[in-house]
Amino acid sequence: MSDLLDIRGLVTSFQTDSGEVRAVDGVSFSVGAGKTVGLVGESGCGKTVTSMSIIDLLPKPAGHVKGGEILFKGKDLRKVDHKEMRKIRGGEIGVIFQEPMAALNPVHRIGKQIVETLKLHEEMSSREALQKSIELLDAVGIPAPESRISNFPHQLSGGMRQRVMIAIALACEPDLLIADEPTTALDVTVQAQILELIESMQEKLGMAVLMITHDLGVIAENCDEVVVMYAGRVVERAPVEELFARPRHAYTKGLLSSIPKLENERKSELVTIPGQVAAIQNFVPGCRFCQRMEREDENLLNVRPEYREISEGHWVETCPVCFED
Ligand SMILES: Nc1ncnc2c1ncn2[C@@H]1O[C@H](COP(=O)(O)OP(=O)(O)O)[C@@H](O)[C@H]1O
Ligand SMILES: [Mg+2]
Repeated sequence: MSDLLDIRGLVTSFQTDSGEVRAVDGVSFSVGAGKTVGLVGESGCGKTVTSMSIIDLLPKPAGHVKGGEILFKGKDLRKVDHKEMRKIRGGEIGVIFQEPMAALNPVHRIGKQIVETLKLHEEMSSREALQKSIELLDAVGIPAPESRISNFPHQLSGGMRQRVMIAIALACEPDLLIADEPTTALDVTVQAQILELIESMQEKLGMAVLMITHDLGVIAENCDEVVVMYAGRVVERAPVEELFARPRHAYTKGLLSSIPKLENERKSELVTIPGQVAAIQNFVPGCRFCQRMEREDENLLNVRPEYREISEGHWVETCPVCFED
């Protein structure tokens, strides 16, 4: 059976003052129907650009998908026109962002925003859409939805706004939810509630989730599979237990050892990955983690390591130094 979403060799670049830069450089992974896949990596590694490429929301005209395929239910999203893309986005693919104010329209009441999404994607009268909006707000845990529906976004707390955005994303019962750092801007207790909400809605609707996060705790708790990005590429991808038990790429190992362990909570014991990610315009063609480690071997820096399936479902960028067989 083919996957719900299958990304093959995605390349996305931006025109900048210092020339063209590749924010996503040949990324491949897939999301099976009903599964939760975590996309993890440090800030700036290309997670958001990957998700924006999928749903055609790259900042234009600077951002551009240059190569690869984005197969959704077998259809290449790069080849669908804008009108069809608008139907897919919000209809079959729901999206939630880190900052709900970016997705909500500040001048419209939240009820109107949900009603409009419903009417764009489903055959529904205004009255039916209004009724469904109230049900949705109720389902995402907003108290007194009949009156909340006439609020403007700024009248809600951050957590409540996030719930409204989730209600909008789920209004049309999508097959895939893309959640880009959905809890990063929220405080810890609200974070847990929002993640639980996403999980329960996922169970109810049977949808798949692409969970973008820099938080490995979120990955461990919520995901079936993990995709680890570094500097615009996937360095490792595996089922979640496998990745945590047997990480094979040096970068993944570094990430895992940087999780604070509650048992020996002393901050001084926190391991961080040494060095820094190179500036994007200086990325080497070869292994970018070797670049960070300041290795000088020309071969490592110039030859792109093969990205290979080493055991079932476990893929690694097989740099001769960073990959441990
Ligand atoms: N609008 C833009 N113009 C130019 N470069 C961009 C733009 N947006 C993102 N980038 C580049 O893409 C890289 C990846 O960004 P992003 O996908 O947002 O990272 P993250 O993994 O934190 O979500 C950034 O480091 C930046 O160099
Ligand atoms: Mg991001």
